[in-house]
Order: sequence, then structure tokens, then C-alpha cells
Amino acid sequence: MDERIWVAGHRGMVGSAITRRLQSEGRNVISVDRSVLDLRQQDEVEFWLRANQPTAIIFAAAKVGGIIANSNYPADFIYDNLAIQTNVIHGAHKAGVDRLVFLGSSCIYPKFAEQPIKESALLTGPLEPTNEWYAIAKISGIMTCQAYRKQHGRNYVSVMPCNLYGPNDNFNLETSHVMPALMRKFHEAKVSGAKEVMVWGTGTPLREFLHVDDLAKGVVWCLDHYNDYEHINCGAGFDVTIRELAETVGRVVGFTGDLVFDTSKPDGTPRKIMDSSRMRALGWKPEISFEEGIASTYRWYLENVAPTAVAA
Ligand SMILES: NC(=O)c1ccc[n+]([C@@H]2O[C@H](COP(=O)([O-])OP(=O)(O)OC[C@H]3O[C@@H](n4cnc5c(N)ncnc54)[C@H](OP(=O)(O)O)[C@@H]3O)[C@@H](O)[C@H]2O)c1
Repeated sequence: MDERIWVAGHRGMVGSAITRRLQSEGRNVISVDRSVLDLRQQDEVEFWLRANQPTAIIFAAAKVGGIIANSNYPADFIYDNLAIQTNVIHGAHKAGVDRLVFLGSSCIYPKFAEQPIKESALLTGPLEPTNEWYAIAKISGIMTCQAYRKQHGRNYVSVMPCNLYGPNDNFNLETSHVMPALMRKFHEAKVSGAKEVMVWGTGTPLREFLHVDDLAKGVVWCLDHYNDYEHINCGAGFDVTIRELAETVGRVVGFTGDLVFDTSKPDGTPRKIMDSSRMRALGWKPEISFEEGIASTYRWYLENVAPTAVAA
């Protein structure tokens, strides 16, 4: 049978990287824009799946956002994510699609999980409250895949990436994650000649960042080779403080002013690094260095976002 891989969320940062990766391997990708198919609409999702008959699905569609977006729109985060993943996973089963890779996030793990976080830490303690709505939806997604495997023998697997960055990231300061937010703030400060840039929190939390092209390679590898009940971590294997992150992004952008830490803003989890030794043992490893990844992302930002960003 001809391969037809549906990348759901193909316009997002992760979905577009996975699409590039699959196409670089000469594989047949199918996609549908959100304006044509809103994944929250169950009947429409099932109709589309029946009509288009993918042979496999990489599920990179989600309502995604940083701390502000999560705390301002908790209902949207839990409803949209539960709805779209339930519709797609159940619809995939009904349409006879036997392979699916669901994308989760490291926020599924307890706030005080032992570091580096192993897959077995799932559901062993309370979540970080700032994004628990999103985390609960993602945990449900993992378990939905497990349920369809258990009851129907489906090869539905879940991959948990750490923080990601790269082309097509979200640079809107209201909804973005820390890396693109810093990149935009430094760039605008450089352009305007501002002397300082405000960074949220104390700068001490440790975070793990992976270039999205490295993740895409891992996800495609999982589609082809990983067929297991348990979800699998996919992280860079090293972490940096938010201060180190800010200093690196500032250096790449060419901002020469000062960093000011706004300690009234929440830090979130003190440290978050995943144990990705299972992925490593299967043969995957990241190839893009931290500094080069940030530099290429900044080049992408300059070409695609910077001309319009100030007005956004
Ligand atoms: N970004 C990270 O740092 C990170 C880290 C760990 C895990 N992940 C995971 O990776 C996955 C993708 O994240 P991302 O960063 O690529 O997010 P993103 O850039 O915001 O992309 C999300 C995609 O989902 C689509 N989408 C959302 N709601 C939809 C709906 N109701 N109907 C149809 N399409 C819908 C969006 O469509 P439009 O483009 O039309 O809006 C977009 O293409 C998520 O599961 C996320 O948890 C991301």
C-alpha cells in the first residue's frame, strides 16, 4: 500500500519540522489546513479521515503556549487539547489507521520529579500549577494511545519532547515560550537602542532545549521503529539556567545592554531535564549545538518575523 502520512498541525513549529524531515526522506505527506478542518469537530475529523485514508499519523496539533497564555486561558487549553486529541486518536482507530505518534510535553511530569526525569515519573506527584490544564490534557493523550493499544492492538505511541525552538516558533510575546520571547526582546532592544532587557523570574531555573529539527528526526524514527506501550522522552541531554539562556540569546542577537531579572514573576519548576536514555539506546541523538541552533533560529527570525514583529 502507498504510504500516506498525515502530519496534523503541519503549519506549527513541530509539524512543519516533521514535514520537512519526511519530505527530505522522499516520503508522502498529507495535510489539511485548520480553516478546512477544525480538529475540535469530531464528525468532520472522522469524515476527513475516512475520505483521505492516511496510513500513519504524526499528531503535532495542539493548543500550545507559555505561562501567561496557560494562566489566562485554562479552559481553552484543557478543552481544545482534550477535544482534538480524542477526535484524532478515536477517529484514526475508526478509520483503520494503525500507526500514530502523539506529541506530548515534559510538563506532564510532577513539579518536583527526581532529575533527570525518567518516563516512570509520570503520575507520581503534583504538577506545576501554572500549566496543569495543558499537562492533564497531554497525560490524557498518552493514556488514550495506551488504551487503544491495549483494547484494539493499535501501534499508537507517545513522544515527550523537552522545550523546543527553531524555525516557525511563536514570537508573540503574549503567548510565546521563553526562548522566542527573549530573542524578540533582545532584537527589539538592539534596534531601538534600549539599555536593558527584562527577563522573567530569578534567572536560576534550569531548562533543557532541543532544536526542533533534531526532534523531528527522532519523531520520524519513532514512527518507523518504536512500538511500545510506554511513552518515550526526547530531550537534548543537557540543561542551562534561564540566565545562561538569556546571555546566549543576547550574544547571538548582538544585544550589548544589561539583563534585569523581574523576580516578581513566577519561576515555575526549579529544574526540568529529562532522562532520554531510552531514545539514545535506540540510536537517536541530537546533532545541532545550542549556540548554532540559536544562531540559525535568529537568522530565520530576521528573515520571517522581524520586519513585522514590532507592529504585531
Ligand atoms: N513548542 C515547544 O517547545 C514544545 C515542547 C514540547 C512539546 N511540544 C509539543 O509539540 C506539539 C506541537 O507544538 P508546536 O510548538 O508546534 O505548536 P504550534 O506551533 O502552536 O503548532 C500547533 C499546530 O496545531 C494546529 N492546531 C491547533 N488547534 C487546532 C485545531 N483546533 N484544529 C486544527 N489545527 C489546530 C495549529 O494550526 P494553525 O497553525 O492553523 O493555528 C498549528 O499548526 C504539541 O503537542 C506540543 O505539546 C512543543
